[in-house]
Amino acid sequence: MTSLICATDVSVSHADADLPVLSHVDFHIVPAEIVTVVGPNGSGKSTLVRALLGHVALATGRVQRAPALRIGYVPQRVHIERAMPMTVRRFLSLPRRVSDAQASAALERTGVPGLEGRQITALSGGQFQRVLLARALLNDPQLLVLDEPTQGLDQPGIVAFYKLIEEVRAETGVAVLMVSHDLLVVMRASDRVVCLNGHVCCEGTPQVVSAAPAYRAMFGAESQGTLALYQHHHDHDHDHVAEGHSHGPACAHTH
Ligand SMILES: Nc1ncnc2c1ncn2[C@@H]1O[C@H](COP(=O)(O)OP(=O)(O)OP(=O)(O)O)[C@@H](O)[C@H]1O
Ligand SMILES: [Mg+2]
Repeated sequence: MTSLICATDVSVSHADADLPVLSHVDFHIVPAEIVTVVGPNGSGKSTLVRALLGHVALATGRVQRAPALRIGYVPQRVHIERAMPMTVRRFLSLPRRVSDAQASAALERTGVPGLEGRQITALSGGQFQRVLLARALLNDPQLLVLDEPTQGLDQPGIVAFYKLIEEVRAETGVAVLMVSHDLLVVMRASDRVVCLNGHVCCEGTPQVVSAAPAYRAMFGAESQGTLALYQHHHDHDHDHVAEGHSHGPACAHTH
């Protein structure tokens, strides 16, 4: 299947860092796929996301994006916007103006209807993340890129957010690239997981990754039980969209 984004042999060095932040990373994502990148703090997850979006210079390799690809991006840090006095309605019209109907529909879709008149600063953490998602959905993206979208949420909030992501994917066919630290939930909600630590340590279906020695070494005690949890939740239907997504270096088909 044609990739939306395909990266080959990507390395990134920052000016004031001795070692490359990313070394020879291959990555791809196809339509309607949910791929989650996990890894320790400083392992290059946000840098990879920014490299895929073309926001940082590459030391080696190349990134191919499908022509005219529509991306809804929520960066890891949006606190500056949050500190400004601004209603949710106005926030949704930045940077691109949208109609009242579009704004309301997006809020409805992400489970926070009727918040238009509320100040951004008055939202709870969970409401704010949903408003960010609503804004990212406004240009009818083919790919959502969410860098730690569940930061600050409690466990039920995290589970609800991932459920919402899966619903949106099922309805719209949008592909989702996420960075996350929520291992247990990631393992339930992703088609494919990429473990990053400057390079790709392991990747594959949640089942494959959670059994991989590199994953277990990276996350230690935290990783315990993720395989059991994955199997428990996938004994039933599911995986209908996942099948056949994670095969092969799909770059050859992009432009
Ligand atoms: N603009 C920059 N200039 C210099 N170094 C940078 C820059 N951006 C990131 N780095 C460094 O690159 C490394 C990877 O950072 P990155 O933000 O990609 O990690 P991360 O995996 O997203 O971490 P976290 O889980 O904390 O968000 C870090 O050592 C960071 O200090
Ligand atoms: Mg980061």
